[in-house]
Amino acid sequence: MQLTGNKILITGGATGIGFGLSERFIEEGNTVIICGRRDSALQEAADKLPSLITKQCDLENEDERIALYEWIAAEHPDLNVLINNAGVQNWMSLKDPEFYKKAKNEISINIESPLHMMLLFKELGSLHTIMNVTSALAFSPLTKVPVYSATKAFFHSLTLSFRHMLRNTDIELIEIIPPVLNTDLGGKGIHDSMPSIDLFIDAVFEQLKEEKTELTYGFSDKFSKIGQPEFQTLFGQMNPVV
Ligand SMILES: NC(=O)c1ccc[n+]([C@@H]2O[C@H](COP(=O)([O-])OP(=O)(O)OC[C@H]3O[C@@H](n4cnc5c(N)ncnc54)[C@H](OP(=O)(O)O)[C@@H]3O)[C@@H](O)[C@H]2O)c1
Repeated sequence: MQLTGNKILITGGATGIGFGLSERFIEEGNTVIICGRRDSALQEAADKLPSLITKQCDLENEDERIALYEWIAAEHPDLNVLINNAGVQNWMSLKDPEFYKKAKNEISINIESPLHMMLLFKELGSLHTIMNVTSALAFSPLTKVPVYSATKAFFHSLTLSFRHMLRNTDIELIEIIPPVLNTDLGGKGIHDSMPSIDLFIDAVFEQLKEEKTELTYGFSDKFSKIGQPEFQTLFGQMNPVV
């Protein structure tokens, strides 16, 4: 994709990786719209990046996803890039009485929401790029975050299928596969000792310039290549291009 002159919607763009992407895309000469649940986080992001366009939206709610799409179609019909970045991570054990409730929340935000967003936004005539933010844990689960890991495996698999299904359209699908990074994912403080997102964002932009479609960094590169030659052959056999 061209890295300048786009109009981009970044879900969860007020914090962490989404904010890092917002900042860099603005520096590169793009218009960025972000959405999230917390007005305070959206306002804080807009204070740092005054050109940001913000929209409050709870992506767990199907009606709010549809309203977001309709608002974009009416107010920003030239939007050409959707970045499905918003996500939640719940640490839990089998003793957790809230296990099922937390699992449903992760499944809704990490799976249902981006799936629905892809279906909605592919109808926008101007759309040419979708980026999905998955995780290294899509390839090997961390059992402290069992449902989160499974949602990311689902999202990775869905991304492969959508890329294949969209191959005869003008829409390309790029997967961003972060390793663990210092953000507030899972709660404040949990990731404090992890690498900052700055070098990760640099690596994402380097790989976008190289027109890669699976963007990795650090150990996520190793994780994403586990058994890859065998997997690619199998995927090709199962999904022949006719
Ligand atoms: N940090 C890591 O180590 C890491 C590693 C691999 C993958 N990832 C992925 O990277 C993505 C970004 O996470 P992050 O690390 O940057 O954490 P983060 O700072 O917590 O960002 C998550 C963002 O998603 C938004 N969000 C959550 N639920 C939402 C909802 N129902 N509706 C709308 N927005 C919602 C949050 O905003 P509100 O709370 O205001 O809604 C927040 O801005 C996630 O998909 C995550 O799984 C992160």
